[in-house]
Amino acid sequence: MDTEEIIDLSLKLAGLREVPEDSAIYVGGKDIGKVLFCIDAGVSELWLAKKLGYNAVIAHHPIGGTAVLNFPQVFRRHIQQMVDAGVPVEEAEKAVSRKFEQLKVEAQTRNYAHAVDFAKLLKMPFMNIHTPLDEIGRKRMVSKINAKVKGNSRVWEVVSALMEFPEFRHALTKIEICLGKGENMAGKVVVSHAAGTNGGYEIAKTYFAHGVGTVLYIHISAADLEKLRAEGKGNLIVTGHIASDSLGINPFIHELEEMGVSVTRIGIVEG
Ligand SMILES: [Fe+2]
Ligand SMILES: [Fe+2]
Repeated sequence: MDTEEIIDLSLKLAGLREVPEDSAIYVGGKDIGKVLFCIDAGVSELWLAKKLGYNAVIAHHPIGGTAVLNFPQVFRRHIQQMVDAGVPVEEAEKAVSRKFEQLKVEAQTRNYAHAVDFAKLLKMPFMNIHTPLDEIGRKRMVSKINAKVKGNSRVWEVVSALMEFPEFRHALTKIEICLGKGENMAGKVVVSHAAGTNGGYEIAKTYFAHGVGTVLYIHISAADLEKLRAEGKGNLIVTGHIASDSLGINPFIHELEEMGVSVTRIGIVEG
């Protein structure tokens, strides 16, 4: 396979038409038969891959180039997810705007060239696939919840449904009900994931104000959680970063292997 075919495969599995702004091929390559796949990759992983005879390094998180500089654009995917859940579009835009602006300012700080130049020097095919793999994970969680959670289900039943995924059983992190209680009615459940990063305080608060009973994030900052707790409204389930990333990564690696590519997994929870 070549690097284009690999990224196209991820789009196909995610049901996306275009490569999102947070994913990129930094160094293209052909005839890739042996891949080192890491959630995070940089200079050391590239060097290790070269020494051990890999044909490519694929990371999940953005590392360089436009994928880190334009990363904030994928945060706007929260808007469509909110609209799909019944939030009026202008409310959704408002909820996204503050963190979107913060992410844009932070993007300026990134050393976007370092690892990419290193990959070029080593002639090591190098890419990252972020949103497509998170979208695969989001869809898996949504279908599980749709199949198992009914109108009168409690929050703990949402957690039990998710625990059917081996990734959550094998992870060192636990799925936590960070806001609300297990015995609360779950109400409408939204899997808020595959939009760059978690929606923080504003997005969860906006969901709760528009008829959503339970929001699922893969992670949240302590400061945002404190603000949500101070308001005491809604239920927030936090599923754990690496376990949740693995949920989207594993089906993709499985497909690569089906196509004859050998993949070494680094830091991915077993599915
Ligand atoms: Fe992710
Ligand atoms: Fe992640």
